[in-house]
Amino acid sequence: MLTARKALAAGLVLLFAFGAQGVSAASPDDKIKNRQAAMKQIGGQMKVIKDYLGGSGSAADVAAGAKKINDLSKTTPALFVPGTARGEAGLAVETEALAKIWEDPAGFQTAWDVMAAESQKLADIAATDDYDAIRTQFGTMAKNGCGGCHKVYRIKK
Ligand code: HEC
Repeated sequence: MLTARKALAAGLVLLFAFGAQGVSAASPDDKIKNRQAAMKQIGGQMKVIKDYLGGSGSAADVAAGAKKINDLSKTTPALFVPGTARGEAGLAVETEALAKIWEDPAGFQTAWDVMAAESQKLADIAATDDYDAIRTQFGTMAKNGCGGCHKVYRIKK
């Protein structure tokens, strides 16, 4: 009886140890999946803004979308963990992230900072409900923010 209890206790300790490890260390593949999902969310907000420019939705939708992009510009960089560049050994998930991200971390962060600044600008302009100004800033944000990073740090498509 005593030994059975001891064995159970040891088993629980082991289970706990593995469980905790599983929670704290997401695999590199998971990080890639998470950042691709974040990028899809960013893309989804771009569609909201395009819909407004196409005549459906409100300037308030644009402001909310731009704010979400702004938030994601601050949380997504952390998902680019070392060891997750395209071509790296041991990855099961296909990634379009170039090794240049890890060779030039300061430049990569600057690209995120530009994204955050341009999306904040769009959110501010959307508050004025000025269609032409929103359209212009949307173009600037897409070119300098999304394009500025993709051109350098993502595989050419
Ligand atoms: C600072 C860099 C950076 C910025 C800014 C950025 N992206 Fe990306 N994006 C990437 C990288 C790197 C990948 C490849 C990720 C991967 O495959 O691991 C990517 C992938 C994507 C993908 C493909 C996701 C998938 O399903 O695999 C979409 C869509 C996308 N970005 C949209 C956007 C849009 C829209 C913007 C601007 C509002 C934007 N991105 C801004 C770096 C950036």
